[in-house]
Amino acid sequence: MTTVSKDTVEIAVRPTGAALGADVVGLDFSQPLSPETLQSIKQAWSEHLVLRFRGMGKLSPEMLIEFSRHFGDLDMRPIATGNRSQFLEVDRPELTIISNVIIDGKPIGGLGSYEADWHADMTYVERPPKGSCLHAVELPPSGGDTYFSNMYMAYETLDDAVKKEIASLTCVHDASRNSAGELRRGFEEIDDPRRTIGPSHPLIRVHPESGRKCLLLGRRRNAYINGYTLEDSERLLNMLWSHATQAKFTWAQEWQLGDMIMWDNRCTMHRRDSFDPSARRIMFRTQISGEPVVAA
Ligand code: SIN
Repeated sequence: MTTVSKDTVEIAVRPTGAALGADVVGLDFSQPLSPETLQSIKQAWSEHLVLRFRGMGKLSPEMLIEFSRHFGDLDMRPIATGNRSQFLEVDRPELTIISNVIIDGKPIGGLGSYEADWHADMTYVERPPKGSCLHAVELPPSGGDTYFSNMYMAYETLDDAVKKEIASLTCVHDASRNSAGELRRGFEEIDDPRRTIGPSHPLIRVHPESGRKCLLLGRRRNAYINGYTLEDSERLLNMLWSHATQAKFTWAQEWQLGDMIMWDNRCTMHRRDSFDPSARRIMFRTQISGEPVVAA
């Protein structure tokens, strides 16, 4: 355990012991963050990639938004969807709800109760988000755990020959579907990745703050390596994906009520287990705006 700051409250950082993740203990979300404490959290985030704040009780949308703003501008949720106003006393455009709860026939949030495959958020835009904060407001009795993978380690442990092969390669990221896997208006179903429409990103990106190299895979579906035959693209992507999602590079967030986690979307991927659709799961989420992707 490392004590990282002493000001109004003592903050401690306890690494999970897995490939990534740490608990931050002692923060009081109802109090303003001192510059020293903020710096300590930023340092811990940079070292551990995913931070967990446990035992928070219920954070209001305002508290989550105010905290998240310390790490950058916030993205607005895409379009007003579902039945949020039935659930929130005060709606805020910076807040997304992830939930399977339906009120009057309309979902209050996104993603339902099904499994979410490994992905980094919104790599199908030119500037994928920097990171996200996710807070557990209601949880099912079991299921719905969220897993993270360390993409620095995934890159660093590749064979030298593979590092060399992918050094100047770019991959097309499918923009036709949203984070919930739903086809966006105006896009057609694609069954040949060579026809994928979306931005191209380097397979290796340089993290803008740490300066370290990490793998950038995004989503597997409809991904395509520019300039490769379909067969070679599929072979290489299958290999990179099975390498990057090995258990030794991952950590599982087993949710407890009130947990708030924040992940760095530039050097991690995540996935989520399904859960019983008849149980309720409600999460508040904010998303921190990203910067252009820089190739290695
Ligand atoms: C996601 O952002 O993929 C969802 C994470 C979760 O619901 O735990």
